[in-house]
Amino acid sequence: MTRRCVCPGSYDPVTLGHADVIRRAAALYDEVVVAVLHNPAKHGTFTPDERRDLILDTCGDLANVRVELFANRLLVDVCRDVGASAIVKGLRGGTDFAYELPMALMNRHLTGVETVFLPGDPRFEHISSSLVKEVARYGGDVSGLVSDRVRDALAGAWSDR
Ligand code: PNS
Repeated sequence: MTRRCVCPGSYDPVTLGHADVIRRAAALYDEVVVAVLHNPAKHGTFTPDERRDLILDTCGDLANVRVELFANRLLVDVCRDVGASAIVKGLRGGTDFAYELPMALMNRHLTGVETVFLPGDPRFEHISSSLVKEVARYGGDVSGLVSDRVRDALAGAWSDR
């Protein structure tokens, strides 16, 4: 039996913290589906296709990882559709836990799918997509927080839109 998990998120854009969790999930499970969940009514910085390309550039070297895009879907339905028994998420600290726990309990209530939390690597504890975007937007250096390709995409994002 293939043990498959989902690493869900907005990934707008993928950070090195996300990549660390995906890499560690890929060591624990036979297959990892990185699910980019987006709401078409909300305008992100990157399009879903751009987010997928940036994820593949950051962790596409992992043979058992694939990226799929979903719009307006419940995470539990995504898990059912791809045949995943678990959701894997990283926790940067107590604030993340307070945000994630009700979602984990709700998802288990809905279909029984379990959420597995991985302790975030302290090297990436301060990294979030929104903080990285804010730093990049005002000209700060985001090297070491995201891949070089994401850093360059962020530099272009503010000039294009
Ligand atoms: O990267 P993010 O923005 O923290 O990811 C949050 C995400 C997309 C994983 C979460 O909002 C989600 O699961 N959305 C799908 C809709 C859903 O299932 N909502 C009910 C959650 S209990």
